[in-house]
Amino acid sequence: MIDFDAIPRSALPALLRSAPKAELHIHIEGSLEPELIFALAQRNGVALAYESVEALRAAYDFSDLQSFLDIYYAGASVLLHEADFHAMAMAYFARAAADKVVHAELFFDPQTHTDRGVPIGVVIAGLARACADARSQFGIAASLILCFLRHLSEAAALATLEAALPWRQHLVGVGLDSSERGHPPEKFAQVFARARALGLHLVAHAGEEGPPAYIESALDVLRVERIDHGVRCVESPALVARLAAERVPLTVCPLSNVKLCVFKTLAEHNLPALLAAGLCATVNSDDPAYFGGYLNDNLIATFEALPQLGAAEAYTLLRNSFEASFATPQAKAAWVDRLDQVFRAAA
Ligand code: HPA
Ligand code: ZN
Repeated sequence: MIDFDAIPRSALPALLRSAPKAELHIHIEGSLEPELIFALAQRNGVALAYESVEALRAAYDFSDLQSFLDIYYAGASVLLHEADFHAMAMAYFARAAADKVVHAELFFDPQTHTDRGVPIGVVIAGLARACADARSQFGIAASLILCFLRHLSEAAALATLEAALPWRQHLVGVGLDSSERGHPPEKFAQVFARARALGLHLVAHAGEEGPPAYIESALDVLRVERIDHGVRCVESPALVARLAAERVPLTVCPLSNVKLCVFKTLAEHNLPALLAAGLCATVNSDDPAYFGGYLNDNLIATFEALPQLGAAEAYTLLRNSFEASFATPQAKAAWVDRLDQVFRAAA
């Protein structure tokens, strides 16, 4: 037993910083910092619509998901070569290692690149080499989740999955991202069935801006194992009860939710309610270069804004990050042991 009551709130920032954790909801293209965007633009001869790093950063003032996606896809236009994808992911892994991330499952959006003429093999080769280097340089166990862009057709998603098959061994799963409203999960029933038949893990963004019905169809039609975001589940008590009973993980991204106006402030975020309902919620950074912080920034700002969250909730969130991951049972058990040691030492 860990005596959580013996850990004062004042000890939480240091504890959150130093504890081992997994990151399960990070779009690697969303880790591209303005400095690297400009460096790659110069190296690759790509023209940008912004004069300077400062001007680009000043444009990060979003009103909803779509207003962010427009800038996010423009930022990704500087990625052309295998070395660019590798450099982007290594910059993320360096930040993640500083945050004591020991396991990371990275989303990537191949269609954002293939639609500009970058071969999918170039994208996956660069990211997969970075995942291997993450283990040797930082001790991070990293894997890749190929995301389909939901504003495009299911036929395009199916073609993307088939094109990725020569690199199947580098993929742990598939996901669904981009503009949620008007693009319900069931639009992608066939491609998720195909991915499932290939033995890939399945996740989908749902209930970020879309209604609870999208979370239900992600579970029932796509048969996903985790819901990315999912914060709108609270609008359906029956759905909350189901998510708790089935222990469906939610990969929650607090700073993202405030930047994209899903919640007005962090103090109004429903993470405490999700945890109180017994849901397997985790905290993640989503697109850290655009939303004002990496994983520890998310954790520390969230705990600072929400006094209902204490040491027990900190432990639960980090433990959930391992439980919800696609790591082996042995790896999960070893990380939970280390997590227990860190919390016991603080109590
Ligand atoms: N939601 C949907 N699509 C995305 C996001 C997000 O938060 N980030 C990058 N693509
Ligand atoms: Zn996301």
